[in-house]
Amino acid sequence: MRFPFRLNRSGWPARMLPRRVCFPDPRALLRPEEITSPEVFSERISVLLLGGTYKTTRPGRHRQSDALLVGALRQKSPVVLDVGASDGSTALDLITALGDAFEAYYVTDRALSLRVRADDRGRAFFYDADGACVLAATPRLLFYPAAAGSRRWPRWVLPGWRGAIPPFDPAYPEVSLVQPRLREIARRDARVRLRPHDIFQPWDGPAPTVVKAANILNRAYFSDDQIRRAARNFWRALAPDGLLLVIDNRDAEKASLFARTEGGFGHIDSIHGGTEIKELILSC
Ligand SMILES: C[S@@+](CC[C@H](N)C(=O)[O-])C[C@H]1O[C@@H](n2cnc3c(N)ncnc32)[C@H](O)[C@@H]1O
Repeated sequence: MRFPFRLNRSGWPARMLPRRVCFPDPRALLRPEEITSPEVFSERISVLLLGGTYKTTRPGRHRQSDALLVGALRQKSPVVLDVGASDGSTALDLITALGDAFEAYYVTDRALSLRVRADDRGRAFFYDADGACVLAATPRLLFYPAAAGSRRWPRWVLPGWRGAIPPFDPAYPEVSLVQPRLREIARRDARVRLRPHDIFQPWDGPAPTVVKAANILNRAYFSDDQIRRAARNFWRALAPDGLLLVIDNRDAEKASLFARTEGGFGHIDSIHGGTEIKELILSC
């Protein structure tokens, strides 16, 4: 069960609390001039929790999996559907690994932007497309309303937080959750598209040659039934000879590459023992 609070690093002197118990300040997303590198952007995005999933990501975490995929493509120019791509750091990496050799690259996630209300007490409230507050950030604390609602916490855990959240207003400014460089590339190159997409819904774009699902088909987030449902959606979406790349980054980068077959998926190759859901994908 997730605890609904974390400490915001900005409000605690480093000598008082070690960095590992304090988290980067997501309010910096409202002040782009403070974000000095793609890594810093990813750190701030990774603090967000949406639909039970942290948006954890960072550049460079799929190097071996991307190499496995590029090798299997044998210079074919693919249409890539990257699902649960978070801020797109790893999409940028795969775009680079593909060189210019791709037909289209869809960078998708359940949420690519949020609406934010900031107030003069230094607090920021982040709302998803349904108007639900997903994060309230103060200079010292990060509060996750969905985690708070997931069980009955004792009163001392939630001292008056719920009442403090302002009601949603669709006029609140929109903040992009996508890496600035990727947004810039998408503006210049019509082949790169940023699109909200939920893996539990059918894909309504062109049939991809590759579906990349990294750190999303995870048993800590979803039940086996949900994972099978998502995998079947990928199967329906994929071109007949399409590929599915599933990656888990925990202690090490583990990945499995599957080929779409007539009736399901066949295993092509794995690295570091492959994904923990390999059998689930083969059985769907
Ligand atoms: C742990 S991050 C992985 C990011 C990136 N793929 C990586 O490996 O670095 C999981 C992402 O899945 C997204 N996500 C969660 N549920 C989703 C859903 N039902 N459909 C699409 N994306 C979802 C989250 O918003 C989050 O950005």
